[in-house]
Amino acid sequence: MVRHFLKDDDVTPVEQAAILNLALQMKQAPYAHRPFDGPKTVALIFDKTSTRTRVSFAVGVADLGGVPLIIDSATSQMGGKESVADTAKVLGRQVAQIVWRTYAHSGLEEMAANSGVPVINSLSDDYHPCQILADLLTIKEHKGDLAGLKIAYVGDASNNMANSYLLGCATAGMHISVAGPANYLPAHGVVAHAEAIAAKTGGSVSVYGEPTAAIMDADVVVTDTWISMGQESEKEQRMQDFAGYTVDANLMKRAKSNAIFMHCLPAYRGYEVSAEVIDGPQSVIWDEAENRLHAQKALMSWLSQQV
Ligand code: CP
Ligand code: NVA
Repeated sequence: MVRHFLKDDDVTPVEQAAILNLALQMKQAPYAHRPFDGPKTVALIFDKTSTRTRVSFAVGVADLGGVPLIIDSATSQMGGKESVADTAKVLGRQVAQIVWRTYAHSGLEEMAANSGVPVINSLSDDYHPCQILADLLTIKEHKGDLAGLKIAYVGDASNNMANSYLLGCATAGMHISVAGPANYLPAHGVVAHAEAIAAKTGGSVSVYGEPTAAIMDADVVVTDTWISMGQESEKEQRMQDFAGYTVDANLMKRAKSNAIFMHCLPAYRGYEVSAEVIDGPQSVIWDEAENRLHAQKALMSWLSQQV
């Protein structure tokens, strides 16, 4: 059966662990796995801007013996001109996998239902599961076993990163706590879903209004931009709403003294995080950014074996 990776719990806890272990192997031997030998082509479609995702998927496909085909949707027939279903059928007959960064998550579901090849979500309005795989890999490298660790997310707890942390960290058996202003908390359905996963993995889920409560004794502290792609018109309001939610040195003191700090990037110093924290000794953001490559190579390789 063709498998897709549209959100974090599209893989089981055992499968997630296998992908992360494969990523560690691939990091040691970057050119030893050749699932796209042929070479096969992987379509990388972008409806939104990107630096890390574009580079890491393009390099990753090449490392795996394939050819990356980057499609800027603004210069293709996709969108208003041709349906997602028709696009999926055309791509599915020619490429090995489809990686898509888009707005509405439902588009990815339509692509997956019609493509006949694995579809990977490289960010939607609702989830960013490839980033969480890279983050889990980074935590594993710095902290060892994921199960039982506490991760705290502070900031826009209603965005794609927060949703993916909730599902992905619960899948890994971690204790995930999120904090955001009242209008920026995760949807009840996502929290309930994460709680159901955590009940099976030994993890837990907590939602707070106050950052100090969420961050207490955390092993890992994460944040993300207050203004995600597509929300630019809300900038003024959001700047007011998120006042007090900056991850700064004072807040970091509430976490464990050996806590690591992560951020998916791009970062806005002085807003969601202070320069002192993101550029300081607890920050592992460059390992995290590099790990996009290794985690996604493992994901693509694993998906290629499921078909
Ligand atoms: N973290 C991340 O997805 O970065 P890009 O937007 O640069 O791809
Ligand atoms: N929440 C951010 C993540 C960027 C990688 C956004 O969607 O813009």
